[in-house]
Amino acid sequence: MNNLHACCLLRKRNMLIVRSFTILLLSCIAFKLACCFSSSISSLKALPLVGHLEFEDVHPASKDFGNRYQLLPLAVLHPKSVSDVASVIRHIWMMGPHSQLTVAARGRGHSLQGQAQTRNGIVIRMESLQHQKLKVHGVGAPAPFVDVSGGELWINILHETLKYGLAPKSWTDYLHLTVGGTLSNAGISGQAFRHGPQISNVHQLEVVTGKGEILNCSERQNSDLFHGVLGGLGQFGIITRARIALEPAPTMLYVNNGQVKWMRVLYLDFAAFARDQERLISSDDDKFDYIEGFVIINRTGLLDSWRLSFTPEDPIEASQFKSDGRNLYCLEVAKYFNNEDKKDVMNQEVKKSLFELSYISSTLFSTEVTYEEFLDRVHVSEMKLRSKGQWEVPHPWLNLLVPRSRVNEFAKGVFGNILTDTSNGPVIVYPVNKSKWDNRSSAVTPEEEEIFYLVAILTSAVPGSTGLDGVDQIVKRNQRILEFSEAAGLGLKQYLPHYTTRHEWRSHFGPKWDDFVRRKSRYDPFAMLAPGQRIFDKASLVSPHSS
Ligand SMILES: Cc1cc2nc3c(=O)[nH]c(=O)nc-3n(C[C@H](O)[C@H](O)[C@H](O)COP(=O)(O)OP(=O)(O)OC[C@H]3O[C@@H](n4cnc5c(N)ncnc54)[C@H](O)[C@@H]3O)c2cc1C
Ligand SMILES: *[C@@H]1O[C@H](CO)[C@@H](O)[C@H](O)[C@H]1NC(C)=O
Ligand SMILES: *[C@@H]1O[C@H](CO)[C@@H](O)[C@H](O)[C@H]1NC(C)=O
Ligand SMILES: *[C@@H]1O[C@H](CO)[C@@H](O)[C@H](O)[C@H]1NC(C)=O
Ligand SMILES: *[C@@H]1O[C@H](CO)[C@@H](O)[C@H](O)[C@H]1NC(C)=O
Repeated sequence: MNNLHACCLLRKRNMLIVRSFTILLLSCIAFKLACCFSSSISSLKALPLVGHLEFEDVHPASKDFGNRYQLLPLAVLHPKSVSDVASVIRHIWMMGPHSQLTVAARGRGHSLQGQAQTRNGIVIRMESLQHQKLKVHGVGAPAPFVDVSGGELWINILHETLKYGLAPKSWTDYLHLTVGGTLSNAGISGQAFRHGPQISNVHQLEVVTGKGEILNCSERQNSDLFHGVLGGLGQFGIITRARIALEPAPTMLYVNNGQVKWMRVLYLDFAAFARDQERLISSDDDKFDYIEGFVIINRTGLLDSWRLSFTPEDPIEASQFKSDGRNLYCLEVAKYFNNEDKKDVMNQEVKKSLFELSYISSTLFSTEVTYEEFLDRVHVSEMKLRSKGQWEVPHPWLNLLVPRSRVNEFAKGVFGNILTDTSNGPVIVYPVNKSKWDNRSSAVTPEEEEIFYLVAILTSAVPGSTGLDGVDQIVKRNQRILEFSEAAGLGLKQYLPHYTTRHEWRSHFGPKWDDFVRRKSRYDPFAMLAPGQRIFDKASLVSPHSS
């Protein structure tokens, strides 16, 4: 603040010969920027850190998985300890609200629209913190847990905890994501119907607030911060450590087969598919350990590739099944085996559960894989896509949470109409039960209804194409989906939300908006953190008269 005032005062004194007030203002701003950036850089360079600040090689921090937004930061912090994170944030906090510097934590940069980026600010590369030791506690006790860095990848947590026969309870489909990144959203996958999202399976966090304070928080200690940070889109602090709930992992060790029986069945009717999914997530007797589903849109001949290494229960019947280009809905379930002796019994139970469902009977496919193979399944697709140069393409993805009572209407309008021919990538659909979500967290879900569906339309664009498979057309298509839903009043919410106006954010948060704003002014009053979410704007905090 002092720097800035000094710059401008000095400038004003020398401005007597400049007639136009506009020119004075403009040149003052330009001077202010140049003057203050160079002084910011030198003061940042003087900070004593265990890790380091990188000012040259900052381009990798200006990209993300979405491949559509690029903001170049001023510097990248490679922290080696939580105090590095706190020092840098505290330093910028002390510069006051006039400094334009903002701070973006970057997990793996798997955001879609620049959420982990900042223009001319500091990106904190959270993965640099990840090699702090992962500590598993309470092995053999009723409630084991693991302490991890906020920059840790879920895949590493899986590998480490499995050494103790344990594993986290709730996952995402893809594990090469960071703890801080998924906890800032929700972390939803096929286990969420039972355990809730990842944010419902955290005991404690260590957070660096927008004032540079290091605080532990939990249900009991600093609980307002704890709930705020979970699903908080990075707005209230940087998660530097997390304590994650564990459970016994499926242990059955087989030589040839795995611990997970993974099954897929097909439906022609969305309503029947959804009814069965809801039935499975509501059954009390723990029929399956994982429940998801996906839509196969008008793909004649695709039946061989969607099932990959799955084997049909009845090969002859399965070979005769034809979809004739109609949409198919694939229910995907998994059962974990814990006890070798009981395998036959469990297989019988699985058969019985499947028998009660109304899928097309010739379309039962299954496979057995290890628990790790199962959880890390998307990585296999990643390797394949990478080898074909199809991973680092634009990803105009759309993730929605659709209330149960309107999901058939949504399916009719979207899968039956808008999505017809333009879907290069999976469309995932499955229900979860809100009673497993803590409504004190910042995560936003459809209001009122107990059951809602995650609908993830994960389309890859063909780089450079201006056609239906190009990014512009896919973005337009997504817009049509949102407009259709809005017009029909479906009451859905975006997951991994992206909005550009204050008005849209306010309606996204609905009844949670006031708390969200209150927490922002309490924990990050200068709006320095996660500017790429575009909810609050540091620059606009400063009124035009104050400089
Ligand atoms: C292939 C793929 C599959 C996916 N599957 C799922 C899925 O099944 N379920 C699901 O829920 N999500 C899924 N996601 C979305 C994923 O949860 C988000 O991409 C999320 O942002 C995590 O990615 P990241 O760790 O790279 O975080 P980043 O993209 O780097 O960061 C995300 C946001 O969190 C902030 N942030 C990052 N780290 C911290 C921290 N330590 N403290 C505070 N704020 C932080 C960033 O500033 C940014 O605003 C998937 C993404 C991909 C690419
Ligand atoms: C936070 O908790 C951890 C583990 O319980 C502890 O080691 C650390 O010192 C605590 N930090 C603060 C700032 O209280
Ligand atoms: C949602 O979960 C709660 C708590 O487990 C349960 O009482 C309720 O019946 C579930 N709702 C549905 C529709 O399955
Ligand atoms: C399926 O796609 C083809 C073009 O590939 C189109 O002609 C046909 O109308 C589509 N069918 C449905 C049911 O949408
Ligand atoms: C959370 O849920 C409880 C009980 O279901 C309700 O009384 C409360 O108003 C809800 N709080 C918010 C912030 O929605």
